Amino acid sequence: MKKVITYGTYDLLHQGHINLLRRAKSLGDYLIVGVTSDSFDKGRGKLNVRNNVLERVEAVKATGYADEVIIEDYTGQKIDDIQRYGVDVFAIGSDWTGKFDYLKEYCQVVYLPRTEGVSSTQLRAELQSIVKIGIIGSGRIANRFVPETQVVDGASVVAVYNPEEVEAKKFAEGFTLEPFCEFEPFLDEVDAVYIASPHLSHYQYAKCALQAGKHVLCEVPMTLSGKEARELYKIAAEKGLVLLEANKTAFCPAFGHVVTLVKSGVVGDVVDVRVSLSKVVAPPTRELDAKQGGGAMNEHASLTLLPVIKLLGFNYDNVQFHSKMEDGVDIYTKIVINYPHATSSVTLGVGVKTEGDLVISGTKGYLYVPAPWWLTDYFEIRYEDRTKNKKYFYSYDGEGLRYEIQEFISMIVNKRRSSYKMKKEESIAIAEIIEQYHVGKHLVIL
Ligand code: CTP
Repeated sequence: MKKVITYGTYDLLHQGHINLLRRAKSLGDYLIVGVTSDSFDKGRGKLNVRNNVLERVEAVKATGYADEVIIEDYTGQKIDDIQRYGVDVFAIGSDWTGKFDYLKEYCQVVYLPRTEGVSSTQLRAELQSIVKIGIIGSGRIANRFVPETQVVDGASVVAVYNPEEVEAKKFAEGFTLEPFCEFEPFLDEVDAVYIASPHLSHYQYAKCALQAGKHVLCEVPMTLSGKEARELYKIAAEKGLVLLEANKTAFCPAFGHVVTLVKSGVVGDVVDVRVSLSKVVAPPTRELDAKQGGGAMNEHASLTLLPVIKLLGFNYDNVQFHSKMEDGVDIYTKIVINYPHATSSVTLGVGVKTEGDLVISGTKGYLYVPAPWWLTDYFEIRYEDRTKNKKYFYSYDGEGLRYEIQEFISMIVNKRRSSYKMKKEESIAIAEIIEQYHVGKHLVIL
């Protein structure tokens, strides 16, 4: 029996796929089709696939050409599959000509004619309505945001708002956007806003944008109080809008896997989460300016509290803060959050340097994410018995903002109003801890 194998994503299955599968089948007696897993596609930068792996497998089966469907989940798997299944022919569309010649060592490689004029990319573009995004604030992060939207289907930045006309114009010229220094005309031009203005203005901008019927992606810290965060989510729910806190680590693939692995018990019961983030900055800068909401807590608490809240929850017993102050801002803060059966510590610096790693300690072992853990692309699970240790590698593409943008657009387009990656309750819990800090009840000044 002559065995043929072919691979693909098969998103929004189209005539090109059907022709390819028919041609592949005609090369032998038995056709194996490898369909990429969702995580494999994400890992190789294909972020916009519309059908999930189960839907894509069903679509391939429904063509009637596949005798067996397998899942492709890692680089190098093709060589394993060809040997494991005793494959005689590897077939793929001519858009890949030459790219799989390395498989000739294992079987015959055939590049089949590709059907012109149709592709999943094209179908996705036709299906997708474009979400027009306006950026509020034109600082450092906004400059990184615009290029990242260009790799996400369905997202288009069209306008920028800055109350300073010169600043708005300067930013707009760099990216060919429409500049605004008046807020209402700016909102009229867009479907959604990305708030990247100074911290103290986030709440007000988010509230105005939501009231005007616009979806909101808001930089961290979304608000500095639990009450304000709750109010914003309430308005969003009443208006049927998406409100998402741009806590970028929450959306990055490797961090998602850290959370699911720990939740599934690989380190046993979690007893301690220890996490740090420090970025030492030189004055004069917003991070060291009390009037602009500077300080380690406002700057870094949202990202660092995320693993604690995700893994240990909101039902903590108490929170203590220890801060080193300079010119009215905390240049270093240590937060200790105690739970009935676990503890955690979070260290943050804008004027003190620490190792920026994440350690999740459990009764069986610990999960270690080296610095900079918030740009997670690699982590390890370590045990007393070193032979059981495991290392995990991921890609962290571009500036990493594409993952949150993709989730934001997907929520808007698919009319999904919550994200398990950054839940409303988690965002509120983080804002509450920041609020407790500013109230100063359990604060020790060093
Ligand atoms: N294919 C084809 N003709 C097309 C589109 C795809 O023959 N018009 C083939 C590809 O060469 C590949 C298989 O179908 O062998 C699966 O490809 P896949 O990447 O799923 O399809 P595309 O439509 O090219 O997807 P995308 O636009 O996301 O790259």
